[in-house]
Amino acid sequence: MSISRLREFVSDLTDIVSEDRPEAAVLEAMRAPMARLLAEDDWLPDAFAQPHPDFYQQYLLHCDPKQRFSVVSFVWGPGQQTPIHDHTVWGMIGMLRGSEQATRFDVAQPDAMLRATPLRATQTDVLHEGDIDLVSPTIGDVHQVRNAYDDRVSISIHVYGANIGRVRRHVYSGETGGVKEFVSGFSSSVLPNLWSPS
Ligand code: FE2
Repeated sequence: MSISRLREFVSDLTDIVSEDRPEAAVLEAMRAPMARLLAEDDWLPDAFAQPHPDFYQQYLLHCDPKQRFSVVSFVWGPGQQTPIHDHTVWGMIGMLRGSEQATRFDVAQPDAMLRATPLRATQTDVLHEGDIDLVSPTIGDVHQVRNAYDDRVSISIHVYGANIGRVRRHVYSGETGGVKEFVSGFSSSVLPNLWSPS
C-alpha cells in the first residue's frame, strides 16, 4: 500500500487551488494529477474501500484546511445508486475500480421550484477504470449515479471545490421535478493517515 500517491495528489491539488485560477483552469490542471492517481490501485486503504449493504459510502480522504477542496472515495455496493442531485460547486470524478453510470438531467428552467413536470435526462455516460468526469453549475451540475455492476463493488474518487460534506445542496424528484435541500455529511469520522511511511 502506497499512501504516498494520495499524499502527492493532495499536495498537487493544494498547489492548484492556491493559484486562484478560474474554475475551468483548475479542472484542467487537475486532470494530470487525477490520471496519475487512477493509474495505480495500491494506495486506497481498505478502511476507505468498504461497501455497506444498504447505502453507497462517502469516505472523506482529505479536506483542505481552508475548505477550498475535499477528496472523497465513493464506494458503491452492487446496484447502489444516488438520488438525482446537484453539487453547487465544481467536482471531478475519477473511476478507480469497476464502473459507474451517470445520467445528467436538464433543470435549467427558472421555475424549477414550482413546476411539477418530470426532469428530462439529457445524457448517460459510463465511466470505466481511469475515466474522468466533471460537474459544476457552469457545465451541468445535476445527475444521478449508479454502480454499473449488479454483482460487484465499484469505487470512484471525487474532488470537490469545497468541503462537500458540509455543502447545502439539492436532491430532485425525477417524476415531479420537486427539490429538497440536503447536506451529505460523510460515512466515517476518521481519515487516512497521509503521513504513514510507505
Ligand atoms: Fe454527484
